[in-house]
Amino acid sequence: MTSNPMIRLNDGAEMPTIGFGVLFSSGNETIEMVKTAIGSGYRLIDTAAAYRNEEQVGEAIRQSGIDRSELFVTTKLFLADYGYDEAMRGFDTSMEKLGLDYLDLYLLHWPVPRNFDATLASWRALEDLQAAGRIRSIGVCNFNPDHLDNLIVQSRVVPAVNQVELNPYFTQADVRVANVRHGIVTQAWSPIGGVNRYWAENPEAPRDPLSDQVVTKLAAKYRKTPAQIILRWHVQHGNSAIPKSSNPERIRQNIDIFDFRLTRSEMSALDVLDTGLRGGPDPEVNDLKAIRNRTAK
Ligand code: A2P
Repeated sequence: MTSNPMIRLNDGAEMPTIGFGVLFSSGNETIEMVKTAIGSGYRLIDTAAAYRNEEQVGEAIRQSGIDRSELFVTTKLFLADYGYDEAMRGFDTSMEKLGLDYLDLYLLHWPVPRNFDATLASWRALEDLQAAGRIRSIGVCNFNPDHLDNLIVQSRVVPAVNQVELNPYFTQADVRVANVRHGIVTQAWSPIGGVNRYWAENPEAPRDPLSDQVVTKLAAKYRKTPAQIILRWHVQHGNSAIPKSSNPERIRQNIDIFDFRLTRSEMSALDVLDTGLRGGPDPEVNDLKAIRNRTAK
């Protein structure tokens, strides 16, 4: 396997292109998955307070035998912890669970368009934690272009990363253009379209880019799997991506994508698969009050 290149962020830090996601994994499964990922060459591990597996991610890191300085660890602020003081406390809780003394990347998990002041107050906490040296890089998730503009005009720090739902069936061209305009790295969550299979929030979302004929034909041509073709498409677009898998063979496969190259016309053939339909939640409709009520139960 050739190597997983680093992407330079707008604050000077470097982040591995392909990382390992742990959404919906819990308990010992997370420990085994993360250890397998690190053993397979992943150096970026992406979790979130909302995934409730930060403790297991921290344990896997300790058990991996890889020096902390070689790893890039991301976690995300839980929506129920939005607000300046709440975000400070949320960060401390995450760090305690992870058992780390600094974090590589801390992300706001969602914008809250209906209470953007809470989003801004949380962002100020992230800026202060970064200035204090507790976090190397700060960023956001699921921000549409207007959310980015709104944040940036009222802040000191431009986000380093915007992590969004992104796959060949949902290519988010407007978001990627806005990210480039601001010098923000686009990071794809559910990069191989898994959200359409395990979430199906939007029943009209096209199901599975892995079985699309354009993808499967390229897989046959390059003797790669459909997932590897799609991950290669991300990398050639300059995206970072954090595929998730609980299967050791697929974990290894998803980072083994650096020994072939799609042509320009193959990239275009994948680009036009876009349907404009997301599989996951719509960032426009986040309502903080409802989320707080839900999590209080
Ligand atoms: P599994 O854990 O059984 O491997 P995404 O990261 O886009 O959300 O996709 C994750 C989903 O896709 C999971 O259901 C995962 O299942 C599956 N998956 C991960 N890697 C591959 C792969 N290389 N080929 C096929 N399915 C995969």
